[in-house]
Amino acid sequence: SAVVPFYGAHQAGIATPAQDRLAFAAFDLTTTSVQDLQILLGTWAAAASQMTRGLPVGAVETSPQAPPIDTGEAEGLGAARLTITVGFGPSLFDQRFGLSGKRPAALADLPTLPGDGSLIPARGGGDLCVQACADDPVVAFHAIRNFARLARGKAVIRWSQLGFGRTSSTSVDQQTERNLLGFKDGTRNIKAESGADLNGYVWVGAEGEQAWMRGGSYLVARRIRMLIESWDTDYLADQENVFGRFKTSGAPLTGKAEFDTPDFAAQGADGRPVIPVNAHIRLAAPETNDGQKILRRGYSYTDGIDATTGLLDAGLFFIAYQKDPRKQFVPIQSRLGQHDNLNEYIRHTGSALFAVPPGLTAAGDWWGKALF
Ligand code: HEM
Repeated sequence: SAVVPFYGAHQAGIATPAQDRLAFAAFDLTTTSVQDLQILLGTWAAAASQMTRGLPVGAVETSPQAPPIDTGEAEGLGAARLTITVGFGPSLFDQRFGLSGKRPAALADLPTLPGDGSLIPARGGGDLCVQACADDPVVAFHAIRNFARLARGKAVIRWSQLGFGRTSSTSVDQQTERNLLGFKDGTRNIKAESGADLNGYVWVGAEGEQAWMRGGSYLVARRIRMLIESWDTDYLADQENVFGRFKTSGAPLTGKAEFDTPDFAAQGADGRPVIPVNAHIRLAAPETNDGQKILRRGYSYTDGIDATTGLLDAGLFFIAYQKDPRKQFVPIQSRLGQHDNLNEYIRHTGSALFAVPPGLTAAGDWWGKALF
């Protein structure tokens, strides 16, 4: 099945048209040896070049007396457009590995933002992250599982998240999918075909003071629980006013078709703005945020039932890529966290930030090789 090239100027899994499935994990290093860290990243790179071609990380059938090198569950499933994207958390640049001088200014810890009151520390942070996306859930999970296995003795999974349906389109060729609130998501997203947007808002360029990050990007992940039962009792017109869009068509409240440009100045007969002042799309739009944009690449998740309330624990695992979170995610989320109509129906429960270095050039290269 389809192969997304693993080597290239940028890591795959960012501008790659979003696949259907996600397996994401944040790792904490248990070793304090910089050599172990280098070996881990090199081993992961070799394994990723295999798995993204639909190949096992090593033989499944070796010696009958030894555990198989690859765990085997993805045998025969092909590459399924698997991408494996690796990032470095702020904590990697503490004293342990001598990297503190290489920490990019843009990798500043996220400040406490409005609406952060429900964050669970164990669902956030991490020294390293691995985003595996594929059109097959087993292929995505297999990548994370084998990375964890290869990391044994050097790193452990701190938290992980499965995503079962993409909520963003990142290519003009893709139909816009819906999130669990039933609204089309990704209509005004940055698309892979827009080189100007990718260079302007996603890929780190010469403005970054750390040369090793040029061609990379910054990933912000937020586990956002939706209060689904409460949302489902809300009436349609209110749901549409929360977003500023029509539910079925996805059109802005000032338009007819999904891709019509929202008219934020338009007023109704009552003199009030047609797209409400606190509508999600108004507050998140570049028109409200000094022209800033982000590339959203999130997935729906469900982790069953919340045992204390009996309510569904489901929502959006939000992932966004950008040049500099201090200018993009942070101001946008500050505004949303304070004023967004959507806040009544969501809770941010996890938060993490990672520096995603540029792509690997060829076999023998590994993530952040230029760092050490
Ligand atoms: C737009 C849903 C959280 C940033 C949208 C749209 C929907 C949506 C339905 C309109 C369609 C589109 O243009 O994609 C949600 C849901 C969220 C959520 C359900 C939480 C569960 C966030 C967060 C951010 C964000 C945390 C960033 C901090 C944006 C941006 C747009 C957008 C930048 C495009 C605005 C525009 O240019 O018109 N979102 N969103 N969203 N959202 Fe969200």
